[in-house]
Amino acid sequence: IRKVTTHQLQEMKSRGEKISMLTAYDYSMARILDAAGIDVLLVGDSASNVMAGNETTLPITLDHMIWHASSVVKAVQRALVVVDIPFGSYQANSTEALKSAIRIMKESGAHAVKVEGGREIQESVIRILSAGVPVMGHLGLTPQSIYKFGTYSVRAKEQAEAERLIEDAIMLEECGCFALVLEKIPAALAESVAQKIKIPVIGIGAGGQVDGQVLVVHDMLGITQDFKPRFLRQYADLNSIITDAVSRYIADVKAREFPNERESY
Ligand code: KIV
Ligand code: NA
Repeated sequence: IRKVTTHQLQEMKSRGEKISMLTAYDYSMARILDAAGIDVLLVGDSASNVMAGNETTLPITLDHMIWHASSVVKAVQRALVVVDIPFGSYQANSTEALKSAIRIMKESGAHAVKVEGGREIQESVIRILSAGVPVMGHLGLTPQSIYKFGTYSVRAKEQAEAERLIEDAIMLEECGCFALVLEKIPAALAESVAQKIKIPVIGIGAGGQVDGQVLVVHDMLGITQDFKPRFLRQYADLNSIITDAVSRYIADVKAREFPNERESY
């Protein structure tokens, strides 16, 4: 199997092939997603919400992220594995950022890291890149800044914020980032960013005119409950499937119909 590399993602953009990306946090799911042919697996700090039940991504730690990342890496044969550096592990200064990136790469075996923000983290991005660690940027609705934004509504609708986002995107490309996530911004703005920069732009709630798409896997499989933003397309209803399976199991146990003779020693 030919492994996906950051260079291949660049080639995909050049020839107009869209990039598919999903989150993964554990071995079992990552194996399924990789075998299905996903291009990029993101060990997102959304694990804080999806795996641990927190309201935000802020509580998850670097140790937690490394645990999830190493689980995913063990499952993967083909996909590029990108890991979020969590809140509090890179914002203080570029030395902290570099140390966190190195821990992720060394202890999990992942292939790249992702950080949220633009000019305010430029020095850290440069420092991580200079150590040979590929960096994916992330602009727009960056969830680690949710208390600054105050809401999860669409970002960069106003001219000033849109211009700042474009400048940050260009800066991240010039620094050497291999790709950029744009989250929950107007489709027209995302399209113009994808045209302005040569590195792949992966969107979530950023319209169809970008170079790839990412979703949280538990959302698109219909496991997550009570989260139905407009950008989310639900490809399965695993909630119903799991509920049905578990209900039948419970009923069989109560009715003494499980296990039967063939299922016993
Ligand atoms: O943590 C995450 O799931 C993400 C994606 C939504 C881009 O950062
Ligand atoms: Na994230």
